[in-house]
Amino acid sequence: MAEFTKRVFSGIQPSGGLTLGNYLGAIKRFVDMQEADFETIYCMVDLHAITTWQDPSDLARNTRELCAGFIASGIDPEKSILFNQSQVPEHTQLAWIFNTVARMGWLNRMTQFKDKAGKNRENASVGLFAYPALMAADILIYHATHVPVGEDQKQHLELTRDIAMKFNHDYGEEFFPITEPVIEGAATRVMSLRDGSKKMSKSDASDMSRINMTDDADAIAQKIRKARTDPDALPSEVDGLEERPEARNLINIYAALADMDVDNVLRDVGGKQFSEFKPMLADLAVAKLSPISTEMARLMEAPDEIDRILARGAQSAREVAAPILKRTYEIVGMVGA
Ligand code: TRP
Repeated sequence: MAEFTKRVFSGIQPSGGLTLGNYLGAIKRFVDMQEADFETIYCMVDLHAITTWQDPSDLARNTRELCAGFIASGIDPEKSILFNQSQVPEHTQLAWIFNTVARMGWLNRMTQFKDKAGKNRENASVGLFAYPALMAADILIYHATHVPVGEDQKQHLELTRDIAMKFNHDYGEEFFPITEPVIEGAATRVMSLRDGSKKMSKSDASDMSRINMTDDADAIAQKIRKARTDPDALPSEVDGLEERPEARNLINIYAALADMDVDNVLRDVGGKQFSEFKPMLADLAVAKLSPISTEMARLMEAPDEIDRILARGAQSAREVAAPILKRTYEIVGMVGA
């Protein structure tokens, strides 16, 4: 196996507001990897977002808000490459090659397509079907070796590995790395504040079900105060959280925000009632999140600053991507300079 630089790539769709789930499940981990021994590339995948309808002005606002969220959370554009996908045309150029590598049968098995297309598959966009080939291109155009994602993206990463292997095999060269997924653990999966069995989602009808990264201190505290719980006191050990999804979710959120193990949190709060624990959680959440929402608000008032950062990021990304695309074209037999 050829040697590849340790390089992280991940992407988030700018298809709605940012929630605490995006922050704890993805962005906070992206920051950790930025501080570790990796080159890091983070992308707002606007081309993926439009595989389902996006109002153009919402898409633009969501892209800038996501960028502001990344920066306010600690992604440093001097340390990580931060950009939006559409500005680096090498992604779609490689995606076309991968459309010819991926098999219909592989894409037909993708559960995200089945879920998103729903019953009316005939009416789903071709882009929604081809989505995973573009995702493979996002990753492989940088020869990324590690991809942090949520559990729901595991199948897409397996497909990325299948595409890399088939390409390498068909063209007889170990050109693309076989990417390692870095899957988010249960501890960082943030559930709805209204229903501990459902993922916290920007599309849930109830705003009380989620903490938005743009919520101010009062909103954060109120949502935690009103979060659904059960009548029992908190357990002292993890086993005691089984069958108590709401309690587990609030404990997980506390642990993730405090950078503590769940065991250690329970050692401190075991035996307490929610009436005592919720204010502790609210204080912690406000302390950690309100500086982020304040900085996001500042950046959203300075869209030129955001656009400059994105433009610089796209330029740096192209410097990595262009030689890899050029070599891919050569391997495939495309004639050119
Ligand atoms: N499909 C991912 C999601 O919906 C977003 C994404 C697009 C992505 N391209 C990627 C994630 C490349 C990791 C790597 O969450």
